[in-house]
Amino acid sequence: MTIKFNFRQRCIFNCLAALSIAFTAGPLVRAEEVPAYLRPNLPIDTRVRDLLSRMTLDEKIGQMVQADSGAVTNAADVQKYALGAMLSGGNSKPPENNPAAWSKMVDEYESWALKTRLKIPLLYGVDAVHGHNDVIGTVIFPHNIGLGATHDPALVEEAEHVTALEMAGTGIRWSFAPCIAVAQDERWGRTYESFGQSPGLVSEMAAAAVRGFQGRELSDRNDSVLACAKHFIGDGGTEDGVDQGDTVGDEATLRKLYLPPYRAAIRAGVECIMVSYSSWNGEKMHANKYLLTGVLKQELGFKGFLVSDDAGIDQISPDYQDAVETAVNAGVDLAMIPRGPGETNSYIEFIQDLKASVAEGKVPLTRIDDAVSRILWAKFEMGLFEHPYTDDPALTAAIGSAAHRQVARRCVRESLVLLKNENHVLPLSKTIKHLVVVGEGADDLGMQCGGWTIAWQGGMGAVTTGGTTILAAIRRAVSPETTVTYSPDAGGITNADAVVAVVGELPYAEGKGNATELNLDPGDAALVEKAKASGAPVVTILLSGRPLIPGSALDNSAAFIAAWLPGTEGQGVADVLFGDCRPTGKLPREWPRTADQAAANDLTGEPLFPLGFGLTY
Ligand code: GLC
Repeated sequence: MTIKFNFRQRCIFNCLAALSIAFTAGPLVRAEEVPAYLRPNLPIDTRVRDLLSRMTLDEKIGQMVQADSGAVTNAADVQKYALGAMLSGGNSKPPENNPAAWSKMVDEYESWALKTRLKIPLLYGVDAVHGHNDVIGTVIFPHNIGLGATHDPALVEEAEHVTALEMAGTGIRWSFAPCIAVAQDERWGRTYESFGQSPGLVSEMAAAAVRGFQGRELSDRNDSVLACAKHFIGDGGTEDGVDQGDTVGDEATLRKLYLPPYRAAIRAGVECIMVSYSSWNGEKMHANKYLLTGVLKQELGFKGFLVSDDAGIDQISPDYQDAVETAVNAGVDLAMIPRGPGETNSYIEFIQDLKASVAEGKVPLTRIDDAVSRILWAKFEMGLFEHPYTDDPALTAAIGSAAHRQVARRCVRESLVLLKNENHVLPLSKTIKHLVVVGEGADDLGMQCGGWTIAWQGGMGAVTTGGTTILAAIRRAVSPETTVTYSPDAGGITNADAVVAVVGELPYAEGKGNATELNLDPGDAALVEKAKASGAPVVTILLSGRPLIPGSALDNSAAFIAAWLPGTEGQGVADVLFGDCRPTGKLPREWPRTADQAAANDLTGEPLFPLGFGLTY
């Protein structure tokens, strides 16, 4: 159990620590030789104040920029503009995608930051949203909807801790995760990034995930990365589930549904929160000073920094300077910018426009100082000034290790929700004589992992990151006497003792996953029907980022498992199929009977399966 100190306690602790060191440390290096901000034994707020007092306006505004590596065509810009942060967005990768290449790339940008006058280290972030999913060879975990189905916060904490270790192994110390959306409408393309539909479950998982990412102490670079709770606020409540749409409703509902996970994340010590693209009652969240500053920073006491979403500021106004001014005054501290030299709304333009707004008195210097102080606080707390580089080869070597895969396999096992099990057809016997497996998803790691896997949208096929498909896991689990036949289209099934049909959604991310209806693909329904026609009992496994309306596929299946998007460790599915462990997953969201029932869970009748439903053996 990790004890979290709140901001005030941390300040007192730092002061006491500094005092105790001051009296016991013996002759210190002469103070005037080393500036206060570079002395790790001093309290963080002393170091922040000292550094801020030394910074020019240009250096302060540079700290408020997070540029995408794809936009920084000349790494020297990191030094030239004193950039505070960078990211690899969904599709920005080093030329070679392996851990060593990622470490080298990040360290290269870092080296330019340390060439600046004040040598302020760079913060580098990625979307490690279900494992360190940008990097080939890492362990890909179930997406959050599956982690929500486990109802096991301790396991979620362990999963995010493994993710943090694999990130640290590539020198990346900041993840844009966890997404703590309380998704209300399954037609939203990001439903799978949400732990569930109830604020209670999401709050529990939010806190667990933050603890997992940030470990015992943020300064422990070999055990901790900066988490980023996202997207504040109401990202999962938009009308009709339209991504980046409008969350309409009164403040009481907004607070009841979407604020609890942020309270939980802040209590767990989260130091970064990302602003949502969505709007509340027609006002862009990136422009909403009441919610960003009034509620989050003042009422909830959030002391960390607020990062915009990618080019989220641009959506405020076609006049970029107006957009920048509005967002910074509303409370955005760090601007995530995907565009570079020669492009509109580039990180260079952001710097010029914000500087102009300060000169025109439209953005007070106190706001700039507050934003920069929040960013610096996190960097000091993470120990970045002392340890800016990847420096533990053991962490790099542990990426994709068997121990890490075992944690992911447990997540898969506990995420599976058994929705039907007629005549106890499950668990299957490992000595079954002839088992037929059908469906392209049975042998496709990309479909098993879903979006945000190596590429932003994910992709079908081997996904180029190691793992075990469901078919491979089945083959490994059965006895030598068993014959396993794989027939992707369910053609020519003869003398089967059982058929496993793997169906579901092709990979997608964000708005590309927006749906108008939620029916299981007709081709999948036909596949299950064909399997049923063989006369053998059919066990259907659904790979999807959300509940789908199964129609005839449920009737034609003797057993039906919601497997969500399990990631690379398909053996977790075989563990449940063959009874090495019982299914314990419970629905993290109601399973609608019809598409219009998906709308904000306005169930005009009983759902097909209620929240919390799940059978076991
Ligand atoms: C995306 C997403 C956000 C992600 C960011 C950086 O558009 O909305 O969740 O963290 O950009 O990739």
